[in-house]
Amino acid sequence: MSHPIFKDQLRSLDNQALASTLDCLAETCKDISQQLKRGELAGILGAAGNENVQGEEQKKLDVIANDLIKQALAGCDAVRGLASEEEDDVVGLSEAPGLLVTFDPLDGSSNIDINSMVGTIFSILPSDTTGPVTEAEFLKPGREQVAAGYVLYGPSTMLAVTTGDGVEMYTLDPVSGDFMLTREAHIPQTAKEFAINMSNQRFWASSVQDYIAELLQGAEGPRGKNYNMRWVAAMVADVHRVLCRGGVFMYPWDARDPNKPGKLRLMYEANPMAFLVEQAGGQCCTPEGPILDLQPEEIHQRVPVILGAAEEVTRCVSMHADVAA
Ligand code: AHG
Ligand code: MN
Ligand code: MN
Repeated sequence: MSHPIFKDQLRSLDNQALASTLDCLAETCKDISQQLKRGELAGILGAAGNENVQGEEQKKLDVIANDLIKQALAGCDAVRGLASEEEDDVVGLSEAPGLLVTFDPLDGSSNIDINSMVGTIFSILPSDTTGPVTEAEFLKPGREQVAAGYVLYGPSTMLAVTTGDGVEMYTLDPVSGDFMLTREAHIPQTAKEFAINMSNQRFWASSVQDYIAELLQGAEGPRGKNYNMRWVAAMVADVHRVLCRGGVFMYPWDARDPNKPGKLRLMYEANPMAFLVEQAGGQCCTPEGPILDLQPEEIHQRVPVILGAAEEVTRCVSMHADVAA
């Protein structure tokens, strides 16, 4: 069976600026994949010795992946500016109108040192502004994304991408070095699996407690079926599973730090995943509505996230509404 190559697929895109930006991201993620493969041997594991703007400890690989992507995008003429989880502020690359890229260079950082799954997430927005790049021009609802995707560094390295016409998944062929089209994502409407960090249960809102309690009651409960649970602690890997075989993934608000709306970041985690999930036939919401409709207020904004099979997302959101009513 022959698998189309990502680079060739990009040639069929009308928007060549977008094609070159996607090519640049895919090529850089191959480099990250190579570094990850050498792991401990490359001396790249462990802490970098500093914190990012969000007060999280940076791992060496967070910094390496960030620098690789930043450097690559700086060499891509189509890109006007970038914003990253590991950069305090937005970074201007050009004064001409162009594309804005937001990214999480290394998602699932806590998995690095145990040789477990990590990923890179990216989102691409258009900007017709001229002159110095400002944070304000990044603050567009996720509906305005022209493309989004992730690379999962798992047993094989995979690229999932949408330009608004479904979701294609490519597998990196270690022999040819090409990303080859191997799958299209379609989320089944009914779910058998859920993903949530259960250790936070006592801090959840009552609606989340009630929803998960329903799932845990299995065939004997109101949902009348058994569910299995999975938690990789890397959003890329958990969302990849949802895109491949369905289910629901949640990182809700919790009372550990009540002023934080959630853990995940809107601009480079929730929005790109929401675009992919909707394009694969699923839903991605906060308790108030679709993530893609949110008006961002700042680049590092956090949001609660409920995504996956429509049946589960709808049920979970409706239970929040019941509590609010
Ligand atoms: P990052 O490594 O980019 O900071 O993201 C980690 C996120 C996300 O990938 C994952 O779903 C979640 O944090 C895991 O959080 P817990 O450790 O609280 O389970
Ligand atoms: Mn992340
Ligand atoms: Mn990260």
